[in-house]
Amino acid sequence: MDAVDEAQRKAQRDEQLAETRRRLPGPGYYLVLRWIHEILRPPNYVEIGVRKGVSLRMALEGTRRIGVDPSPMLHTEYPDTRIFALPSDEFFARHDLDDLLGAKVALAFIDGLHLFEQVLRDFVHLERHSDPATVILLHDCLPFDEPTSRREQTMDFYSGDVWKAALALRRRRPELEMMTVRTAPTGLCMVRGLDAGSRRLEKELPEIVSAYRDLDFDYYSAHRAEMPPEIPSDRRAVGDWLRRRSPVASRERRQDSRIAEAAS
Ligand SMILES: C[S@@+](CC[C@H](N)C(=O)[O-])C[C@H]1O[C@@H](n2cnc3c(N)ncnc32)[C@H](O)[C@@H]1O
Repeated sequence: MDAVDEAQRKAQRDEQLAETRRRLPGPGYYLVLRWIHEILRPPNYVEIGVRKGVSLRMALEGTRRIGVDPSPMLHTEYPDTRIFALPSDEFFARHDLDDLLGAKVALAFIDGLHLFEQVLRDFVHLERHSDPATVILLHDCLPFDEPTSRREQTMDFYSGDVWKAALALRRRRPELEMMTVRTAPTGLCMVRGLDAGSRRLEKELPEIVSAYRDLDFDYYSAHRAEMPPEIPSDRRAVGDWLRRRSPVASRERRQDSRIAEAAS
């Protein structure tokens, strides 16, 4: 790429990011991630997609961290952190998270390959190592526009079609509690009420992939009401949602879902 192309790409990216901040006002996702660490104080944190380690740095001291990325670009050491330079599927095939952590996953952030089927696979793997207190975060659930939410990356700023994973989870696992924080650039969806014993998503994955693969941004715009509910990028709103515990309701929802799963 010559210098002019590069300058043009950078200018386009800066403009797009400025527009995301206008549409999604308030602190960006790094700060929201930090709030979540401060509110939950999780004993451990698993991050899929680490790149330069900026989001990994949002974890608090004393939190055991695991990062997974086939090409991490970390330049410093992080305390109590293990980085696995592998694609997430390979990581989960080779390692047992319960053994690595010596506990269930407390908090996880999925921000690796930006294709919805990969996000769903990462979710399935992480849920298997969850307990009722686990929270999984999905990045990029609020797509910006058509070109940046295509499956193929055509410009620097890109969210891929991750939004389809949030929509599929909402439809196929209605017992999950989901809430998207409207934080720039492309939203952060919090998911809890997980069930390590559920196999529904895994079973339905091939069918979900063929049903959702060709959905486009117009489809998203027409079905926004079916996406997870949203809250502003506001610390109190995030804290209220995370602290609002409904273990009995969650258990009942899980039982209903297992009954539906057994019947299907
Ligand atoms: C958007 S970046 C992550 C940014 C980082 N979470 C942050 O906010 O600072 C996406 C990362 O996912 C990694 N990645 C791509 N395919 C992956 C896979 N199959 N499993 C895990 N990570 C993957 C890429 O190498 C890249 O570093």
